[in-house]
Amino acid sequence: MSGEAILPGDIARRVIDPHAYAEWDGLLDTFDAIRATTPVVKVQPDTPGLFDPFWLVTSYDDVMRISKDNAAFLNNPRPVVFSFNETIRFSRAATGSNILVDSLVVFDAPVHPKYRKLTQEWFMPRNLARLEDELRALAAQTVDRMLAGGTDEVDFVKEVSGPYPLRVVMQILGVPPSDEFRMQMLTQQLFGGQDKDLSGSGLDKMTPEQVVQTVAGAVKTFEDYFAGIAEDRRRNPTDDVASVIANALVDGQPLPPRDMAGYYIIVATAGHDTTSASTAGAMQALAGDPAQYARVRADRSLLPGIVEEAIRWTSPVQHFMRTAAEDCELGGQQVKAGDWLMINYVAANHDPAQFPDPRRFDAARSPNRHLAFGAGAHQCLGLHLARLEMKILFEAILDRVAAVEPAGEAKRASSTFVGGLKTLPLKVTPA
Ligand code: HEM
Repeated sequence: MSGEAILPGDIARRVIDPHAYAEWDGLLDTFDAIRATTPVVKVQPDTPGLFDPFWLVTSYDDVMRISKDNAAFLNNPRPVVFSFNETIRFSRAATGSNILVDSLVVFDAPVHPKYRKLTQEWFMPRNLARLEDELRALAAQTVDRMLAGGTDEVDFVKEVSGPYPLRVVMQILGVPPSDEFRMQMLTQQLFGGQDKDLSGSGLDKMTPEQVVQTVAGAVKTFEDYFAGIAEDRRRNPTDDVASVIANALVDGQPLPPRDMAGYYIIVATAGHDTTSASTAGAMQALAGDPAQYARVRADRSLLPGIVEEAIRWTSPVQHFMRTAAEDCELGGQQVKAGDWLMINYVAANHDPAQFPDPRRFDAARSPNRHLAFGAGAHQCLGLHLARLEMKILFEAILDRVAAVEPAGEAKRASSTFVGGLKTLPLKVTPA
């Protein structure tokens, strides 16, 4: 007998069901109940073979410990995001690997630090300061466009929090606005949208063979597209991150084409839906609290606290997976070498042992050492950029919008991985 704590089937289904993630309070209730009794617990499929069993980790301390111990908890070789076995088979058929795209998130040491080092400096605040004027111009354009469309009911996600971070990321990767839509569609084909309103890929209606072809085609198109950008940046380097990746050397050699494409793809995909979700969450919190909106309008020093709390409160990257490299004890459970673990950032960032009254949006929360950006060797590479672009956008909004209030029901996306609001109807009063 193993004596393992096993999550009952009906609750286990909620943990892997994208629709459960659209019902935020219900989801938080589920994680609270699990964490209170079994902060580390085994999740098994009802149908054998549907997915590999994994340990669900919901407490802040355990998620922090796993994230920081990159030797004991590996990103490779299993998928870093929860995947059904069918998806893994598709990936293997399409790309010859369990993993669709080779990128920072799937490498461990000694490869990971070498790749990470290539762009680490570029993403530091000192370098990002150069982007501020460009970001301000983009934020101003975005707010102009929102106000030009009439202010009685604005869908903040469609008008502002969706397009702005997408353009920022495309800009640093050298993708012109004319190709932005194509890049977005390719991303959806690659990762398959779980929410039918957001997925333009049609993957849900395809046969497995068609899915394989579509996914393989998307990987190839991405590779070719970024090979073109890389070639251009090798001939005419600029100060964007696309040039850094194009001209990078690892052990004296340029990146192999698949790794180079993977680098571009991880920056392209990690950088926008995440920041969109936190931006929309910040606006939702402010719209629900007019006094707080007025306070931050009058005192901009409150803005960094709002941005940080929004990132915790929304936790847009909802989980990552790790594989144990060795046997260990975790949350009273015996984890074996080779076991798969889900580190759940939503649950960790709502752990009352770390965050008093965790569901409250508290812009003055201190300390606020949340895990929304992860921790350890893989901690979000773009965290300073995310904070900067959100701050600059909100400065533009606070300058131009006197008041904001909800104008309908905000809806969340159905997604187990990156999640957040897909609509946020607001009434905005221009300043
Ligand atoms: C609010 C916005 C964002 C959130 C919540 C977020 C969250 C995360 C999380 C949780 C991880 C994994 C951390 C870990 O495994 O410990 C990650 C990794 C990463 N993020 Fe972000 N992210 C955001 C914005 C961005 C932006 C703007 C960029 C770049 C433009 C970016 C690029 C990356 C990259 C490249 C990685 C992989 C790092 C590695 O494995 O070494 N992210 N992010």
